[in-house]
Amino acid sequence: MDKLIINGGNRLNGKIDISGAKNAALAIIPGAILAQDVCRIENIPNISDVAIMIKILQELGASVRSVNKNTVEIDSRNVQFYTVPYDMTKHLRASYYFIGALLGRFGKAKVAMPGGCNFGGVRPIDQHVKGFEALGAVVTIEENAIVNAQSEGLIGNSIYLDTVSVGATINIMLAAARAKGLTVIENAAKEPHIVDLANFLNSMGADIRGAGTDVIKIRGTENLHGCTYSIIPDQIEAGTYMVAAAAAGGEVLINNVIPKHMESITAKLVECGIEVEEFDDSILIKSDRRPTRCNIKTMPHPGFPTDMQPQMAVLLAIAEGTSIINESIWDSRFRYVEQLSRMGATIKVDGKIAVIEGVPQLKGAPVKADDLRAGAAMIIAGLVANGTTEVENVIYIDRGYEDIVGKLRNVGADIKRVRVVETAAQVS
Ligand code: EPZ
Repeated sequence: MDKLIINGGNRLNGKIDISGAKNAALAIIPGAILAQDVCRIENIPNISDVAIMIKILQELGASVRSVNKNTVEIDSRNVQFYTVPYDMTKHLRASYYFIGALLGRFGKAKVAMPGGCNFGGVRPIDQHVKGFEALGAVVTIEENAIVNAQSEGLIGNSIYLDTVSVGATINIMLAAARAKGLTVIENAAKEPHIVDLANFLNSMGADIRGAGTDVIKIRGTENLHGCTYSIIPDQIEAGTYMVAAAAAGGEVLINNVIPKHMESITAKLVECGIEVEEFDDSILIKSDRRPTRCNIKTMPHPGFPTDMQPQMAVLLAIAEGTSIINESIWDSRFRYVEQLSRMGATIKVDGKIAVIEGVPQLKGAPVKADDLRAGAAMIIAGLVANGTTEVENVIYIDRGYEDIVGKLRNVGADIKRVRVVETAAQVS
């Protein structure tokens, strides 16, 4: 087990290059199963979630050639299995995209329910199932939480999502890409990674229109060919570094971004008194004074992303004034608050609402990452705190941030990763 050791107080200055989008890669990799030829995917982030999804692909029979750390060539012509067992799906929620992809390829799929970040309560998949059933699949949840979807071949249909769901929108798109006829997804999610998947599938010869709006039309295409596709920059990774620069102070150019994807985050940083300058594919953050308060309500895209909520809470924890965060997407995504309070933050949580009284300074302390974005928030807190902060459970952070220690050190952060050798006593 590794941990990070951060000595806070350094201002950040320089350039950070953003990697490919995790949540686009996790949808596109299973999507390659639909191609009857090789798919070359570029700008793939070098993170553990991507490595797991590629391993699952290989277990299903695909051959994956690693061209470099950010480029793979996937040949799924020899994929013959449509079953994905729990020991492969337990590590991440996105493994359920193999249901949509295998249904799209074979008309059937047996995939164990996934694991992934726990924001309190079970993360339901009822809207995914609603979509698969609308396309003609019979879906049963068997013992050991195996989702078994069987069909005699999928037929396009209209599906209205009761809740805006990124995962359901992606899974239905994967299944419908090769279904017979027209599928219309209404009340669809509009995240950048939804658009990226549609563009990837269209570059394979699919016929998907309207991605990025709340109505997506998919005309099934029987044969999809291979392609070369480059994944969009990661909106949440970029937002994380924008908030880190705003909180720590300094001047940081966030490079390889699509400024339009960052609009809600940029708007909130400007509201906090941070100077933000946009260029074609980069954003400059200048911060030389204590931020001021603001309120946040997380919403589906183009609203403020829930995956940026913990990181923003750290900025507000040191802001002047009282801020309110309304987490409208997940039932309890405030578990990190306990860790932040150990560093001197004054935050009161009541259900989906957190009230943050800004304090002038946080104090370094040993903390742990409860999940991926909470871990990123702990790092930001360590960068701004007075003294030393140790962050445990770095494994969560490795899921979604390529070389976060290297990228932060490059702009002057005093952060290092150390290996923790667990003694017998600790292990017992
Ligand atoms: C995706 O999760 C992301 N994960 C999450 O990011 C992100 O927080 C979330 O979208 C919202 O943007 C990936 O893309 C791999 P949802 P997903 O389906 O698809 C309810 C990260 O840090 N819902 O949009 O699981 C659900 O309970 C991760 O990168 C149903 O009720 O999210 C939630 O309240 C963490 N029924 C809301 O919809 C369903 O069938 C949004 O969930 C599906 C979802």
